[in-house]
Amino acid sequence: MSFKYGFLLIALLSGCLAKPSFDAQDLSIFFEHVDTSDNNRIVGGTQAEEGSAAHMVALTVGSNIVSFSCGASLITTQTILTAAHCIEGAWVNGSLVSSYRATVGTNVWNQGGTSYAIARNVTHPNYLESIIKNDIGLLMTSTDIHLSDTVKVIPLSFGFVGEGIKTRATGWGRIRAGGPLSNNLLELTLSTISGEECVEKVAQAAVELEYLVPDVDPALELCVFHSVDHGMCNGDSGSALVRTDIGGQVGVVSWGFPCALGAPDMFTRVGAFRDFIEKHAV
Ligand SMILES: *[C@@H]1O[C@H](CO)[C@@H](O)[C@H](O)[C@H]1NC(C)=O
Ligand SMILES: *[C@@H]1O[C@H](CO)[C@@H](O)[C@H](O)[C@H]1NC(C)=O
Repeated sequence: MSFKYGFLLIALLSGCLAKPSFDAQDLSIFFEHVDTSDNNRIVGGTQAEEGSAAHMVALTVGSNIVSFSCGASLITTQTILTAAHCIEGAWVNGSLVSSYRATVGTNVWNQGGTSYAIARNVTHPNYLESIIKNDIGLLMTSTDIHLSDTVKVIPLSFGFVGEGIKTRATGWGRIRAGGPLSNNLLELTLSTISGEECVEKVAQAAVELEYLVPDVDPALELCVFHSVDHGMCNGDSGSALVRTDIGGQVGVVSWGFPCALGAPDMFTRVGAFRDFIEKHAV
């Protein structure tokens, strides 16, 4: 059995920025496996109500042509939480690209809202790109982000999240593999699954879908699973997973089998990185 080459590039759920050459090539292998109807969102989500995800941040690059990079969330008026691989994608020649911006206060990433320049990042020191572990980082804006009805800080929920917890993911990611990004913020309600079930399902999917993927570490990664045609896709990376019962953020979109092929999606567990976040958030 031959596995798809270069799982990292395939599995990461970042947008068009990071490694522009891969997705057109590699993800096209999977066109036949996904529903190509244009009604699919996130994949399989619905449009989020304006202001209902006021913590969501759209990360973009470029000044003349602005490209969507990743999702993120506002955790203080100056600190943005996202995935380490998202930051890596905006890191060129030893610094963040100067056109890197955080847009808040709009459900449409390229329209309305307010954009803030990003001054610096703090990436988790043990971020391991090769096996996608500790995929978490912070971005600090140059100036304070002004809060409003549509711009809110999200509380973080550090308690351990077990199985069967209802969560809500929001993102601007592709609506299907190789399909367009969604200009409108989309949402999907998902249930968490146990670490054991996740390890098993991911191993199974890796064989069935012929993906070479890293091992899931249930202590560091929280898995959610909906169904085929409902899940995360490229461009959703960095976006927040929020408990629907108590409202705190518990996960950051990290990796999976794009896009909604019937396998779990892996989120960096916010609760596993409390020390890191509390140490560096400003
Ligand atoms: C990065 O640095 C190299 C060597 O100095 C240069 O050729 C290249 O244009 C730089 N890339 C960007 C995007 O600035
Ligand atoms: C910022 O991100 C880059 C790219 O991932 C990383 O190499 C660097 O160590 C990060 N800086 C800090 C202070 O974490």
